Amino acid sequence: MAGSGCRKEHHNGLMTKPVMVIENDFSQMLTNPLQSGANQTLTAQTTTVNIRGANIPVLGYQPNGMLGPSFRVNKGDVVNILLQNNLSEHTNIHWHGLKVPALMDGHPDQLANAGGTFRYQFTVNQRAGLTWYHPHPHFKTGKQVFQGLAGLFIINDLEEATLNLPSGRFEIPLVIQDKRLTNQGITYNPTAEEVMSGYMGESVLVNGIYSPYTEVSTRYYRLRILNGSNARLYNLAFSNNADMIIIGNDGGLLKNPVTVKEILLAPGERLDVLVNFNGLSIGTELFLLSKEFANGGDAQGKQSFKIMKFKVTATVTDSFTVPTKLSMVDSLPASSSVRSRVFDISNPMEHHGYPMNDGMRMRHRINNKLFDSSRIDESIKSNTNEIWVFDNSKGDEPHPMHLHGVFFQVLQRTGGRGSLIVSETGWKDTVLVMPGETVQIIIPFESNLGKFVFHCHNLEHEDDGMMLQYELI
Ligand code: C2O
Ligand code: CU
Ligand code: CU
Repeated sequence: MAGSGCRKEHHNGLMTKPVMVIENDFSQMLTNPLQSGANQTLTAQTTTVNIRGANIPVLGYQPNGMLGPSFRVNKGDVVNILLQNNLSEHTNIHWHGLKVPALMDGHPDQLANAGGTFRYQFTVNQRAGLTWYHPHPHFKTGKQVFQGLAGLFIINDLEEATLNLPSGRFEIPLVIQDKRLTNQGITYNPTAEEVMSGYMGESVLVNGIYSPYTEVSTRYYRLRILNGSNARLYNLAFSNNADMIIIGNDGGLLKNPVTVKEILLAPGERLDVLVNFNGLSIGTELFLLSKEFANGGDAQGKQSFKIMKFKVTATVTDSFTVPTKLSMVDSLPASSSVRSRVFDISNPMEHHGYPMNDGMRMRHRINNKLFDSSRIDESIKSNTNEIWVFDNSKGDEPHPMHLHGVFFQVLQRTGGRGSLIVSETGWKDTVLVMPGETVQIIIPFESNLGKFVFHCHNLEHEDDGMMLQYELI
């Protein structure tokens, strides 16, 4: 490859840099996206939202605001959702974290044209958890998500119900996203450097609200957190150093709760967290933060900033105790794998323009390949377990790797952080591979036949081509 017509440049100036976050005044009340049952029309449209007193155009799945309704369904429910595309370009919906048939999965080939529709029908056949949905048309995913199209999809089941976790207004969904706000709307025009780092915004929104606050009582809350950002990682922590008790991740409940003071959350990943405001006096204000972190490349982790404010406004007595046992999760032994596949995601020369220079700039690849929907990259036998290895050992950017159609377990991480992090037990659909890291996962491929994609969930990397296809046969 190297040398074959590639222009050798020692440095083409593609140095990525952080987009510094600008906090607002935390004076706007957090609202939760409306909850909805599983029969619904989602109308992708241009709508407006009021931010800092100005009405700005955004994309939404309903009038008046970005994001779509939060679906809440029970395991076993039948889902019937009509996507009405009122955009002027094609779109579709991927149900991120839902195991649905290939033709319902929002594959980049399965599109609703401008003015058209697509009907999604499937049965929810998986354990309780927080999943989400967003567009997936190749080259446009980053733009459509950044400008407002995404939503939550919560699954409940009986196992979860027996735990009596905080619910109702004590269960708060938090969709964390950074945006670039102007009075003309949410700007999306990544430069070559911003394709390298991923597109980041200066304004951090939660549930579509810039720097919000919420009022809480002195008791346990359950926070259902999604990093719905295109590229930004958050190192979540509380300003009073409160314990974050992690009870679940992408694929639902963990076996046992784990307590941390801070935790890294990459785009696409979810966390189910209990936090106890007991013992705080009325009037106390504290913040959910993102703290600085090391080794996130040139553009990430350089700043500590506030995401939202919690204001203690009522004293209550709370009889909730954190269950010591949450769920059954059988660990898959590495020995059950019938085959391993290694994926080089390092894109080693990404800041130097060679040897993978495609015309004007380098593109993000997996195993040196760009996405091509007419090519099956990996052909996999149903009902087998496989080990996949994502190798970012020579890379200098974080890559959250996501597989459609399956959940997996993380077996091992070498280099970088050097071990699994506590939220990586149980089931995952997205795993963060930091610069220098190699991560091994084990995937039970069941019998959901067909073509699915897997990709980096930095949406600029994905749109740039960092996505391949597997077919389960
Ligand atoms: Cu949320 Cu293919 O991604
Ligand atoms: Cu997905
Ligand atoms: Cu990436």
